[in-house]
Amino acid sequence: MPDNQHEKIFLSDYKAFPWKVDRVDLTFKLSPKATRVLSRIAFRPDPAAPAAPFFLHGESVRLISAAIDGEPVSPDVTDRGLTCDVPDRPFLWEAEVEISPEENTALEGLYMSNGIFSTQCEAEGFRRITFYPDRPDVLARFRVRIESDLPVLLSNGNPVASGKGFAEWDDPWPKPAYLFALVAGDLQPVRDTFTTRSGREVDLAIWVRKGDEHKCAWGLESLKASMKWDEETYGREYQLDIFNIVAVSDFNAGAMENTGLNIFNSALVLASPETATDAEFERIEGVIAHEYFHNWTGNRVTCRDWFQLSLKEGLTVYRDQQFTSDMRSAPVKRIEDALLLRARQFREDGGPLAHPVRPESFVEINNFYTLTVYEKGAEVVGMLKRLVGDNAWRAGCDLYFERHDGEAVTIEDWLAAFADTMGRDLEQFKRWYSQAGTPRLSVKEDWDGQTYKLTLTQSTPPTPGQSDKLPLVIPVAIGLLHPDGAEIVGTTMVEMSQETEVLTYDIADLCKRQGKDVARPVPSLLRGFSAPVIVEFERPTEENAFLLAHDTDPFNRWEAGRNLSREVLLKRAAGEEADDAHLVKGISSVLRDTHLDPAFKALVLGLPSEDDIAQGLHAAGKTPDPTAIHAAGEALRDRIAEELEPLLAKTFDENQVPGPYSPDAAAAGKRSLANRCLGLLSRRDDGARAAAQYDSADNMTLSLAALSALLNIGKGDAQLADFETKWRDDPLVMDKWFSLQVASAAPEDAATTADRLTGHPAFNWKNPNRFRSVFSPLANANPAGFHDPSGKAYELMADWLIRLDPVNPSIAARGSTAFDTWERYDTGRQEKMRAALQRILDTPNLSRDTREMVSRILG
Ligand code: ARG
Ligand code: ZN
Repeated sequence: MPDNQHEKIFLSDYKAFPWKVDRVDLTFKLSPKATRVLSRIAFRPDPAAPAAPFFLHGESVRLISAAIDGEPVSPDVTDRGLTCDVPDRPFLWEAEVEISPEENTALEGLYMSNGIFSTQCEAEGFRRITFYPDRPDVLARFRVRIESDLPVLLSNGNPVASGKGFAEWDDPWPKPAYLFALVAGDLQPVRDTFTTRSGREVDLAIWVRKGDEHKCAWGLESLKASMKWDEETYGREYQLDIFNIVAVSDFNAGAMENTGLNIFNSALVLASPETATDAEFERIEGVIAHEYFHNWTGNRVTCRDWFQLSLKEGLTVYRDQQFTSDMRSAPVKRIEDALLLRARQFREDGGPLAHPVRPESFVEINNFYTLTVYEKGAEVVGMLKRLVGDNAWRAGCDLYFERHDGEAVTIEDWLAAFADTMGRDLEQFKRWYSQAGTPRLSVKEDWDGQTYKLTLTQSTPPTPGQSDKLPLVIPVAIGLLHPDGAEIVGTTMVEMSQETEVLTYDIADLCKRQGKDVARPVPSLLRGFSAPVIVEFERPTEENAFLLAHDTDPFNRWEAGRNLSREVLLKRAAGEEADDAHLVKGISSVLRDTHLDPAFKALVLGLPSEDDIAQGLHAAGKTPDPTAIHAAGEALRDRIAEELEPLLAKTFDENQVPGPYSPDAAAAGKRSLANRCLGLLSRRDDGARAAAQYDSADNMTLSLAALSALLNIGKGDAQLADFETKWRDDPLVMDKWFSLQVASAAPEDAATTADRLTGHPAFNWKNPNRFRSVFSPLANANPAGFHDPSGKAYELMADWLIRLDPVNPSIAARGSTAFDTWERYDTGRQEKMRAALQRILDTPNLSRDTREMVSRILG
């Protein structure tokens, strides 16, 4: 492989492309092994851009012929693209290339999935289709002709002509190549319509294989709800006459927002009550919304370069989070988002892969579709909204869309829309985009009997390549409670911008005015999780118990319960004694509280993840032992089950949902609470309730929870076999069957279970969903299994990543993040993990994707 394959690309090197593209005409003559692509591209010199040689990207495409203004030319072709002498005036580029969709196992560009031709062009897949300036700042109008005998031929925009063996599509909106899409195959449409607020009718369709039509209703409902919500909330209307979604079974990511032709991993669009869980219904609703919202945040206003990825992803995740909050419960959604951020993004931000929301360099951009760019990016957008307030937020968004519709822009352009709306300088706020690492907010209190003082100090630990950090602008929402349980100071947003801020409250006066005894208040800090930071504040256990009972902020109420269980687990996992009385009592009062939402109660019943405890021990300077962490969690679940058995049984009974299944938030919340209770109760009833639930269940939420409860207590063999017989023809359900076994295996059996499953006839490792169904739970859901002291799981993971790498580098590279915590552990585990990583790195012809990731992890 030539050196430039592994070249680092820098944000600071950005240069505009020296030509504009007026039109792109593509003709596809589809054939699995030898598809011909003819391109006619009208280029025009851009006097405003710096001069540079004419270079078109192109990878794994065989050039057959090229011409400029009809005259044949012979460009210099390398394995990354071509250069060619071109005239200094507008010209027409024509080329014919050949590609092989069937051999394209990397699933980037044009590939075949189960007999269907499909594309994935973000970020740099279009260069695997034909030679082109494959960069997001080159926008052009595309017209596409597809020639094939397949019955359904789709591309972006509007259909303009079709006949036997061909179809033509025209997308009137200039777009970057990464939004190009083409689908061809034997697909069935499930149709609906949506009338926009200005009265235009849009034809909607979800295209699926025969037999999957009954799994489209929820996707269509979600799509219509998203279209309506974006009109109402952001004033954004859809512009084309048609909106198509296609479900494909081999897909690297979750879904893709190609203009007018979204392509989805079938797991994120297909759902029926029998086959999908409540959590999947919620996720599908959110992803459909996410891709639809990209129409404005990403497509009509796109990114200048891939360093700006969070400009579209952080903003669009923020918008889909808002949508889910509005459709369901806002506090529950906020807790779910915080859980994900802390479990996965804090882990990324605290390890060798830490990088800013806007990275400064990359080797392979696919490696930067990260939790930091997406989830932390969304938090940064949320903080901006909190800082500017709701009115300026909407005005700033309007200005951003109005100024930049049809343009490819930067984070600076985004912030300028708000700076200009507010007349406010956002330079310091911008550090959130450039500074990696999770900030710490340490809090000290002072109380002299009259005045209460809070001293907040911020700091951000060093991260790879960034040793010194500057103070950030942090919105900290604070409230104060009187020991009688009432609020003496309601939620106030403190805008922290210095390293240290002191807040002073005249409590004596406040108490007197509210007719209360003067008493030291209890602070409720970072309400609603107002910033993605770690609060360092030593609280007595009693105070957490008090907040769990009284905090008016639902997030912090949940957080207080979490602090209680976290404290117990951190101590016990480190071999210390810990009293769980406050925790058990707190959970019991929450379960009894008839005013609380069942979904919220279910979240309070959840314990911190094992990885969360490992993170916490590491942060406290201790060496986490995954085996001990797992044992502590199991023992605590046993204790809660034992102490609260009658209450759990009552809660379980009261939260059964009668009647036909509906995925709505209220019903889903009840099922989630009942299923939490079931998991705990199974430790007491030998799985009797779970077995009964498995037998009577008429929906996947109930069957899967029952099966999981049984497997977690070492039972469920009969049900597992039954499940397989029942669902062997439904790959999405079988993915769950694979996952569950790895997730619930005893730690010492996890690697053997995963290994055994890879020998199952249905284990098709080239299918990303199936590969992940085994290896993602091994890495994420069963840490004690992954970190089993034998090192078996490390070996197995490395073997499979090495095998997968030449076939699908982006999935292999992503899989290597399983090892990104190696520095936390004892020398035995460290050595075994390093050896596994080194073995991957030493593999001949390792992809640039995996090489970059593993090198960064090793540091
Ligand atoms: N833009 C897509 C989305 O978030 C994801 C594309 C993933 N591409 C990749 N190379 N990882 O909606
Ligand atoms: Zn996205």
